[in-house]
Amino acid sequence: MQVSADIFTARPVLADWYRRNRARSRALFDLLDPGVYYTRPISLRNPIVFYEGHLPAFSVISFLKRGLGHPGVSERYEALFARGIDPDTVQSAVPRSGAATRWPTRDEVLAYGAAADAAILEALEQAAFDLTGGSHAAMARGEAVFTALEHEAMHQETLLYMWRRLPYDSKHKPRDARYELDAAPPAPRTIAIPAGVASLGARRDRLVFGWDNEFGELAVSVPAFDVDAHSVTNADFLEFMADGGYRRRDLWDDASWEWREREEVSCPAFWIPESAEAAREPLAGGAWSWRGMFESIPLPASWPVYVSQAEAAAYARWKGRRLPTEAEFHRAAFGTPSGEERPHPWGAAEATPDRGNFDFASWEPVPAGARSAGASAWGVHDLVGNGWEWTDTEFAPFPGFAAMPSYPEYSVEFFDGLHVVLKGASPATARELIRPSFRNWFRTNYPYVYAKFRTVSPSKQVVT
Ligand SMILES: [Fe+2]
Repeated sequence: MQVSADIFTARPVLADWYRRNRARSRALFDLLDPGVYYTRPISLRNPIVFYEGHLPAFSVISFLKRGLGHPGVSERYEALFARGIDPDTVQSAVPRSGAATRWPTRDEVLAYGAAADAAILEALEQAAFDLTGGSHAAMARGEAVFTALEHEAMHQETLLYMWRRLPYDSKHKPRDARYELDAAPPAPRTIAIPAGVASLGARRDRLVFGWDNEFGELAVSVPAFDVDAHSVTNADFLEFMADGGYRRRDLWDDASWEWREREEVSCPAFWIPESAEAAREPLAGGAWSWRGMFESIPLPASWPVYVSQAEAAAYARWKGRRLPTEAEFHRAAFGTPSGEERPHPWGAAEATPDRGNFDFASWEPVPAGARSAGASAWGVHDLVGNGWEWTDTEFAPFPGFAAMPSYPEYSVEFFDGLHVVLKGASPATARELIRPSFRNWFRTNYPYVYAKFRTVSPSKQVVT
């Protein structure tokens, strides 16, 4: 977080962040052909039109209305564009804005967005802020401002993984889109992490802003373990598939197997078989491609594999290992041999492109280990950047959790035993969201997110 705790002097910085957010969102929607504007690239989600209205509407609701007590910009649009959805299956999906909704034209959505932007920027630059929370609890410590800003940044990542599901001929490939392809996968090796403490979460007085699920602080004793130095690559995962990984019942827990059977999952959602042989005999039988944002790409062996947590866990079992806990991830990423913890794997320096593939630096992953300046104190690569990392820790509150007034439903609806924590960052994660306490979460069988993984096992080292 580059914003100072003095939110009044930070007004120009916040306004600039809002403008950058809005420009990036606009650019993402402008990538698309108008013909797909009312389609749902992922069936469980709302149509694209919803999201272009949702971003400004949410900022109006959380910041102007809840934070400042101001009137909205359009009651109709702020009702229509209020909420997204996260149902388990298509059958149980009851979209708040369903198929019967009469959606506005894009011009109408853009006109609403422009009106919302004007009102929000005027408030960011000039409105009276009561940071005590005395008049509006949502504005205590400026919470509602950051809720609006970080919400839009987070949605940009969601948009990108939705856009990936759209037909290539419905997207305009930017001229500067290029990929880092030619690298051999790194040799597999593990790194021993000694027993120590992981300080999860954050203290409210130590962070300018955090989401409610980041508070309070929780110290966890982590026994010694060893961890893959590199995230699992497409080449690694191909071996799992060649060994019948998707057909071996013993590698899957009951719920994951039921999902795999029901959805007939036989390869990562980011892979495309280029021949029937590829699907039948993964190693011997011909080509796979990567489902790129703008075109399919012959499967890059050295890129991290993007899969659901269910597939990641099956791979780990096949290796005789398991997925890390949230605390193990934290210790591998932010812990040091001296016992200090650092704000980033690489130390205290800023999140720059040489340290990780994040902040929209690339449309695609880069080879595992290609950002070695971002390795952790233990020498573990890519913990922050190049794809979120699945853990096997259920998404649950830390001690002292309190729902945030500016967005009370943000976390609590997902403390249901069905979601697990992801940590780190992906190529589409804004740099403002990169901090040790930030937590992402998804259902274990959600296959579309930019999420990679690595495996761990109890350390064989005997510590004397
Ligand atoms: Fe949202």
